[in-house]
Amino acid sequence: MTIYAPIQSTIEKAAALLREGDLVAFPTETVYGLGADATNDRAVAKIFAAKARPQFNPLIIHVPDLAAAQALGALDERARRLAERFWPGPLSIVVPRRPDCPVSRLATAGLDTLALRAPDHHVAQALLRAAGRPIAGPSANVSGRLSATTAAHVAKDLGRHVNAILDGGPCRIGLESTVVACLPARAWLLRPGAVTTEQISAVIGPLDAAPANDPERSPGQLLAHYAPTLPLRLQASSPKGAQEALLAFGERTPPGFSKVLNLSPTGDLVEAASHLFAFLHELDQPEFSGIAVMPIPERGLGVAINDRLRRAAHGSTMIRQ
Ligand code: TXA
Ligand code: MG
Repeated sequence: MTIYAPIQSTIEKAAALLREGDLVAFPTETVYGLGADATNDRAVAKIFAAKARPQFNPLIIHVPDLAAAQALGALDERARRLAERFWPGPLSIVVPRRPDCPVSRLATAGLDTLALRAPDHHVAQALLRAAGRPIAGPSANVSGRLSATTAAHVAKDLGRHVNAILDGGPCRIGLESTVVACLPARAWLLRPGAVTTEQISAVIGPLDAAPANDPERSPGQLLAHYAPTLPLRLQASSPKGAQEALLAFGERTPPGFSKVLNLSPTGDLVEAASHLFAFLHELDQPEFSGIAVMPIPERGLGVAINDRLRRAAHGSTMIRQ
């Protein structure tokens, strides 16, 4: 890991690392972000491994400006007005994914929405433009610890996991961005931050009440939003019926399934996490009767993978009823 003073050449080097799928920590006006190419499943999986997140919380997707945001998400009138007023700045706006959105499904935790933010920091802006792609960036701290507001914090917490840290000095705001959901049916506050509710209301009118299953207020609900259409069967070792698809793990795959996708033939949990959402989508087809999933070890990223799978299986049980 190297700490770089952010000049054009080091920013270009960091952008090249991002494009190759490596992690780079970068300064923003709020806190340091742990950045990965948001369109690369495997790079995004490294974020969850480095942070030791207990579950796949969706990540904020950083973009340079409104035009870049509109290539990824469907910003309605209110979302667009908020972006025009507060970007670049400490406001993340949750909007529906566009159908052609290239952002990793893992980065958005399988949700059909994504949180977009254009940071107000010249280093973050230069990095985004040099990388030429959206950057997924949670706060650069180990899950549950204090957020990092200096390069030294990042180095202490995550130095082993990142290839480079761009040192932009202490963060101006030091508190994560405000997160507001702006969906067609309603707009509500998910996380308070530097942009206040009053400032938001002044632009788009009063916010709606949070829905009952608001992920921020009841974090356990978050991933129940996502459920494959097909029933999901966990801890599977042999097929049930003729038309079952298999989400496999490891080198030995049981025979008799209609289709098999292997999360990681070598048993690599980072690789497995990176494929999880994409493979579930690929197997969730009407030609199959259900999706069977082989056991995943309950260690490292396996804990988060199993958490996600249990929620997905729970969702499919409810759909069947
Ligand atoms: O200031 C910030 O926002 C920093 C800097 C680096 O930009 N980033 C940050 O990211 O705090 P993170 O991952 O630590 O927090 C992301 C928050 C989480 O509370 C997550 O649940 C929420 O945003 N979030 C992200 N995508 C979402 C979505 N599609 N729906 C609802 N909440 C979402
Ligand atoms: Mg955080």
